[in-house]
Amino acid sequence: MTAAEPVPDGQVGVWAAPGRVNLIGEHLDYVGGPVLPIAIDLQTTVKARRRTDGRVRVWSGITDRSVEFGADTAPGDVDGWARYAAGTVWALAESGRTTGGADLVISSDVPLGAGLSSSAAIECGIAVALAGLEGWEVDPVEMALICQRGENDYAGAPTGSMDQLASMCGEQGHALLIKTASAPPTVKPVPAHWVDDGYALVVVDTRAKHSHAGGEYGQRRAQTVELTELLGLETLAAAPPDAVLKVDDPTLKARLRHVITETQRVRSAVRALAARDWPQLGQLMTASHVSLRDDYDVSAPELDLTVEAALEHGALGARMTGGGFGGSAIALVEAGGVDALRAAVAAAFARIDFPAPRTFVVEPADGARRVS
Ligand code: GLA
Repeated sequence: MTAAEPVPDGQVGVWAAPGRVNLIGEHLDYVGGPVLPIAIDLQTTVKARRRTDGRVRVWSGITDRSVEFGADTAPGDVDGWARYAAGTVWALAESGRTTGGADLVISSDVPLGAGLSSSAAIECGIAVALAGLEGWEVDPVEMALICQRGENDYAGAPTGSMDQLASMCGEQGHALLIKTASAPPTVKPVPAHWVDDGYALVVVDTRAKHSHAGGEYGQRRAQTVELTELLGLETLAAAPPDAVLKVDDPTLKARLRHVITETQRVRSAVRALAARDWPQLGQLMTASHVSLRDDYDVSAPELDLTVEAALEHGALGARMTGGGFGGSAIALVEAGGVDALRAAVAAAFARIDFPAPRTFVVEPADGARRVS
């Protein structure tokens, strides 16, 4: 984000922040591992105007509701969808940046609850809008971590930093190699040429709803903390392959196997992207899905069915993306095969009476920014 003059009182600015798809490197952003997401060309738009009375009003076109709270909001004040907005205001204030107040109107084409980081898109959109209104200059990585803090400590979802980093730092035509072993994490754009080479990345929103506020996601995190302590490591992703021999409990052993093999797959995927080796990238994606299904146990029947149908109908590879337990799967397919894949997945869902999924193509897009 570049230094900006504050937006004058009464004037309206418009900012936008995208959702994300993770290509590979799932459930590694909270164990110090590498992840490889893209920001996608679906985004949340925030129209914003300064107020000077220390109040923030957010109107959401997503829910057709508005919520008002103080710029000094604290965890517990606001719940529902608006807690992502209020959490960002709170986390910015905790970082020393208290807004003087704002009217915010948000709309979004990132589907909610689809595992495409609609919440990170709201957080990052609001963060860049407030920074723009106030003239704050904030490094995008720092801003992403502020948004993550809002999500963790205000909205109550114990997530890692991948979603906010992808939404904040996305680059058109690039995937982002994010290494979370260091504090702060590093973000390196990696050219992603599958579109130029005639392939498409298809998202299937299975409409099986998921949530990361506690529950299974929190339990997986807790298991990785237990493993890290058991093995006496700083970060679990640094575990050598033979570390699995030191773990007796079969569930913990499987979780560790996912972390170790997925970390290796991210490294291989970065090489496949550079070599434009799409069959290889596809194989790695599918192997990632199998590991998430069998070892990390975060898939869902709708996700498994999508992957199976996609692979049977021409996909080079397919996998669930994001936290899992519902949400979306992705498939890499020749551009000419998108319609056949869409039809095959729809037919597979219809056969067992699952609600019809939504299938669309995404491309790597730019991160949070001012649009007018
Ligand atoms: C969710 C979280 C991320 C990450 C993924 C799994 O999307 O928000 O931080 O942990 O799950 O890779």
